[in-house]
Parts: sequence; structure tokens; C-alpha cells
Amino acid sequence: MRTSSSRSPPIFILLCMALESTAVTTSSSTFSSPHLLLLSSSPTTTTTATITNSSCPSYSFIITTTVIIITITSSPQFDTSIGVLVYEDQFLQISTLLPSSNVYGFGEHSHRRFRHDLNWKTWGIFTRDLGVGGDDNLYGAHPFHMVVEEDGNTHGVFFVNSNAMEVALQPTPALTYRTIGGVLDFYVFLGPTPENVISQYGEVIGRPVMVPYWSLGFQLCRWDYGSLDRVKTVWSEMIEAQIPYDIQYGDIDYMLEKKDFTYDKDGAYAGLPEFIQQVHDHGQHYIIILDHIIKKEAGYHAYDRGLDPNVYVLNPNRSAPIVGNVWPGDSVYPDFFNENSQKYWTDLCKDFHDEIEYDALWIDMNEPSNFVKGSIDGCDNNRWNYPPYLPKITIDEGKIFTKTLCMDARHGTGDHYNLHSLYGHTMGVGTYEALKTVFPEKRSLVFSRSTFAGTGKAAHHWLGDNQSVWGHLHWGITGMLEFNMFGMPYSGADICGFWGNTTYEMCWRWTQLGAFYPYSRNHNAMGWYPQHPPVFGEEFVEMTKNILSERYRLLPFLYTLFYQAHVDSSTVVRALVNEFPADSMTWDVDRQFLWGPSFMISAVLEEGVTEIDAYIPRDARWYDYYTGEEMVRERGQVATLPAPMDTINLHVRGGYILPLQEPANTTVFSRLNPLALLVALDDNMQASGDFFWDDGEKRESYERGLYSLLKFTATKANLQGELRMMVDVAGYTDPNDLYFHSIKVYGVADYVDGDVTIHPDGSAPSKATAVDYSPQTKVLHIRALQLDMMTPFTVQWDLE
Ligand code: NOJ
Repeated sequence: MRTSSSRSPPIFILLCMALESTAVTTSSSTFSSPHLLLLSSSPTTTTTATITNSSCPSYSFIITTTVIIITITSSPQFDTSIGVLVYEDQFLQISTLLPSSNVYGFGEHSHRRFRHDLNWKTWGIFTRDLGVGGDDNLYGAHPFHMVVEEDGNTHGVFFVNSNAMEVALQPTPALTYRTIGGVLDFYVFLGPTPENVISQYGEVIGRPVMVPYWSLGFQLCRWDYGSLDRVKTVWSEMIEAQIPYDIQYGDIDYMLEKKDFTYDKDGAYAGLPEFIQQVHDHGQHYIIILDHIIKKEAGYHAYDRGLDPNVYVLNPNRSAPIVGNVWPGDSVYPDFFNENSQKYWTDLCKDFHDEIEYDALWIDMNEPSNFVKGSIDGCDNNRWNYPPYLPKITIDEGKIFTKTLCMDARHGTGDHYNLHSLYGHTMGVGTYEALKTVFPEKRSLVFSRSTFAGTGKAAHHWLGDNQSVWGHLHWGITGMLEFNMFGMPYSGADICGFWGNTTYEMCWRWTQLGAFYPYSRNHNAMGWYPQHPPVFGEEFVEMTKNILSERYRLLPFLYTLFYQAHVDSSTVVRALVNEFPADSMTWDVDRQFLWGPSFMISAVLEEGVTEIDAYIPRDARWYDYYTGEEMVRERGQVATLPAPMDTINLHVRGGYILPLQEPANTTVFSRLNPLALLVALDDNMQASGDFFWDDGEKRESYERGLYSLLKFTATKANLQGELRMMVDVAGYTDPNDLYFHSIKVYGVADYVDGDVTIHPDGSAPSKATAVDYSPQTKVLHIRALQLDMMTPFTVQWDLE
């Protein structure tokens, strides 16, 4: 990250696909790569060029001393001719015309809608500890957006700047960036599809880190259970109710006096290590919270260890650590920009793991939060603490250091003014590195409340302190869609709401929706009614078990999506516009979402509702997930779908094959169960799909080739339907002799009642012994199979 001390003229980097080294000669310069092109806006002469390459959209650019115009399709995508470029020391402004009003991205905020309102809305970007729900700048800083044009062509822009800024959206359509430091440094992603743009962005900021399989299970948390006895009661209620449940959390109340790296061993949390052992024995995991501050208290090991060498953020004259005040009282801030901090943090994480065997770390409050303004001694009156221009960020009394440190606090590599929004990012990366020492062989997890562009290569994000209000069911979908764009696909909102008392119906509908959050956690704040499923009684428990069982059945598919995200930054939770950008009906859809390209979730988001309106995209065939019935009349329509209390609408897109597995109450046990395939045929009676499988937790299993990848294709030829499985990569053989026991094919219109033949590679063909076909639903179900997962096979059925 360059800061204002190393200022240079505006820079634009254009990125399409992998970097190529073809030289391109323009009217005045030679560029070494047409797909990673550095454009500087202050050449002495005007530069123009058109670049064409088969693997990328062609584009042209014009650069003069005052204007930059980049054109990928017919109209300019980046055109600064709309406004004045201002380049002052603490104020930089640049504007661009936009080729369409379909703008998505920028964060972190509680955007009401996924598609931005361009009617003079201005969003501040500066990491901040604030609850969700207003127009404030929130925990993370993500100056990235994409624009979808009428014809579906999409480009994206990443503004590489960590200073406090604002983005002013205008109906022209246009947008203006105003930042109070750094340089003007832009990446322009050429697309042409939304998923291409996000993948190109991922190439720059880093691909999402691969999650362990167990993290896809259901999770339970609350702030202030009060005691370990209460945690044990809740845990037992969940187990007795037989609710699928993989992870239990410890929030700050497990600590002694809210101090990191301690637990209340002689008080309310006596016996915590033994309880964690019990959790592990049940095939579950235990995650603990850590805050960003260390209490300033001589004799407290975590504080003392950071003094020599000093690892804390310093006061402006560097004479001592700057002191703020958070949960435990007066506190200092580990400085993750200080080269000594990694060893300090790693040692603490490792030693604490020797005391309590946590499985992952949840790092909180790292915007970085401070309950007093700036420091316990206030902040000096200078141009950093009182900059000449304040972007539209949420502060009190004009003080940019509201709820955080003074801007002239000193880090190892610079001042807080420039590094503020990177604090959580560096803590996330530092904690990820520390966990490599704690778990040298196993993948763990880091959840970070504060994030920056690229945090996803190390950490994950929950959507912060929401409320138990109906509107937040909708808002959480927008949040997930955005964080998937930002390269952090493992995200989700607190199910049933954090602040406030939920209601039976709200928590019921939220549990249905949250079953499809990649990060599926019910979390509750201090002092509100308990909201873990058993408190609502038997009917609620039954519904929870049913919907979470469907989630667990789908986990091999979800895990494969995470593998794909890790490899190419594809989104796991995906907006309909990402798949159908040329279908204008999808541009505004943010109450429904997809898993990958193929599985559509349309939940109830309002009270008292038993039917919903859902858009069924026209350019695909769609099937009801539960029955396999095709949505024929609804295709291309906003359809009214029944949604009685026991139903969340789920649809599968024709053309895709989903790997499934029989559910269980934890992923340790579901991973032992038989596999299944759901084949959804498209208009050409074809489909395809992948299945990624490894041991679920070895580090870098993909990079080290310790995984298997199965490929499925379904086709129709010579009056036969056929499903073929191929083993594309065979780097991992599951020790549990996994096999496919069931294949369901949706959309088999012209089935002839006859034999279904199975051809496993290397063995004689045989007839399937259990086959059902429904002429009403057109579902062919082949049961009682025993097809080894590592032996290629073909299954054939007769058609008219
Ligand atoms: C704020 C976090 O956002 C929330 O999830 C947590 O429960 C509280 N801090 C207490 O640690």
C-alpha cells in the first residue's frame, strides 16, 4: 500500500486473465503486457491504443494530461472527463462516468439493496466499530465495485487506497472518489462476465483460503452464557434434541476479567479444558474469541511479553504504547505492522492452546475499537487528527478518531492515519500465520470482524452486530453477496439476530434462511432471551433438524464450491445477476440467491407470510429441489410460490449435477455416510458437475495434490440417457470406502420403462435392482447402488 509520502501520478492497471508478456506498441509507448497494463495519467503526449487478444475483451484507451478514458465495449467504462481531478496532499478526488446504473459492491455498509441507489448516495469507507442497520461505514474497507451493462458486459474497479474516503454515487450515472491520503491507484477488470471480474479481482488481492470441512456444519454462540454450567446445559439440550451441530463458541465471558489468553479457571469457567475435550469426543469443535487489545496491567503475561521488545502501537512521540480503553479497562494495541509482533502473537496463541484446546480463533473489535476517543490522554490538535476534509464517515464532534486510536499513533511501518483500515486485515493475517504453528498439519479458521481487500486469503467474516428485526433477514443476503464479491465467501449473519429479543416466527424463518448461509451460526448478545433452537419447543426442533439435515446432505456440493472459490475466486453465494447478467430481471434480485451457478434459495423474509414472489430466470430450466418437478410455467416469470411454515423454496438449475451425502448430526459422522447424485437435465438433456473430496482438514490439500476430483456428465444419445463419472484427480482415497448409493435424475421426459444398466470400469455391467420413475414429476430414481467413489462408471437408461 503506497501512502501519501510516496505519491505518484494516477495509475491504472488493466487486468483480464493470466498475465501475458506480448509487447504492445501504442502511439507513444511500448507496454510489456496487454493484460496487465500500467497507465499513468501524466504522459507528456496523448497516448491512444486499441488492444486485441483472443483471450480477453479488446479495449482501447486514451490518456491525456488531464483525462483517462478506458473503453472495453462500445461505451467508455472509465471516463474521467466528467470532473476535475484534484491531487492535494490530504485531499484527492477523481470522478468517472459509468456506462450503466447497475453498480454493485463497495463496503462495508448495511446497503439496503445489492444494486446501488445512485440517487446522490454517498458511502464512507473507514473501518469502524458500529452495529449494522444505518448508513454508517462499518467494520471493513472494500473499495471495489462492478458495473453490469445493458448487454450483460461487466467490468470492475478496485481503488487501492486505505485512507478514509467516500464514494459519491450520482444519477448521471457517475461516481466520485474522495480520499484524504495515499495515491490514485486503480485496477480495472475487463470481465466480460461478473464472475470473470470477481475472479480477476481475486488474482490481485489473493484467493480465498480453503475452509475445513467441519466449518460447514451448524454453529452456536452467545455473548454471556454466564457460566460453563449454562454452556453445558445448552450443549446437552442440542445433543438431546439431535440437532445437527458442529461448533460451539466461547465469547468474552469465558475469559478472566475479559483479558485475552486467560480463562476464568477458578470461577465461572472452571473445567473448560475438560468440557472442550467432551465437545471433541462428540466430533464437534470449539472456537474462542480474542479481542484486539491487551489489558495494561503489570504482571499480566500477555502485557508483559509485549513490552520488550515493544510490540504495541506507540503514542505520537514514540515514548510509550498508546493507551485506549476497551472491555478489560485501559489497554494497549498489538501492532501487526511491527516485525516483532508475529512471534509475540504466535507464542501467545500457541501457549494458550496448550491450556485450552480451541480449534479456531474469532478475532473481534479490530477496527480497531476504543471506548474512549483516540486515547485515554486524548489526541493532539494537528492535521492528522483534524484533517482539512472529512469524508462522510460516522464520527462524533468532527473527530475522525471517534471510537478508535489517534490518527498520529505510530505503527511499525507508518502512522495510524494511513494504516487504520488495515489494522483488522493485518491482525487477520497475523492470526492465520500464528495458527500455522498451533496446527501445523490442520486447517483452522480465523473470523475477523474488520477486513480489507485481500483479507479473505487468511480469514473469514461474519456480518457483525445485527438486530432481531425482520429487515435484517433481507440485509444479510446483500451482505453475503457483497462479501462473496470481496473474496470472502465464507460469511453469514447472526441467525435470529444479535441485539434484541427474537420471536418464535422470526427465529424460525431465520433458521431456514441461515441453513443456507455458508457460515451458519446462531449468535445472541448479552441480556436477551435465549434463542438456541430447543428453547422454542418440539415443533421448532423438528423444523431445525429437517432443514439442517438438508444442509448437511448438500455439504459435498457446498465444499466443492469452496474448492472452486479457493482456486479461482468464484462466488459461493452468488447473485442471480452474476449468472444471468443480460437478463434485466435479475439486476435487482437480492431477496433470492444462488449457491454457485445452480442452486437457488428463495426464503421468507417477512412476518406472517406463507407465499413469496420469486424470479425464475428465463435462460435455464429449474426444478423443485424436493420433488424434482420442473417449473415450466414459472420460467422467466416472477412466480408466486407457496411457502408454508415448514417450507423454504429451493430450486436446482438444469444442466448441473450436485454431489450429496446422507446427513448426520456432525460432519465427522456425515462424512462416513453413502453419497448420492442429483442430476438436473437442461433443455438439451445434458448436465455436468464436479465433486471435490479430501480428508477435510489437511493444510493445502489442493496445493499438495492430496485430494480427489470427480467429474460427472449426463448426455442423451441414440435413445439412451447416460451418466458418466470420471476420476479427474485421484490424490485422496477416503478410508471409509465411500460409495454412491442413489442417483436422481430430474427432467427425464421420455423415459421407457426398461432396464437401467450400470457399467463400473473394469467390471461386468449389471442391471440396477431398484428403479423408480414418476411420469408426473419426470424423476428417475436409481436406488440401492453401491458404486465405489473412486471407480469410474457409466449408468444408462432407455428413452423413447
Ligand atoms: C462484538 C461482536 O461483534 C459480537 O459478536 C460479540 O458477541 C461481542 N463483541 C462480545 O464479544
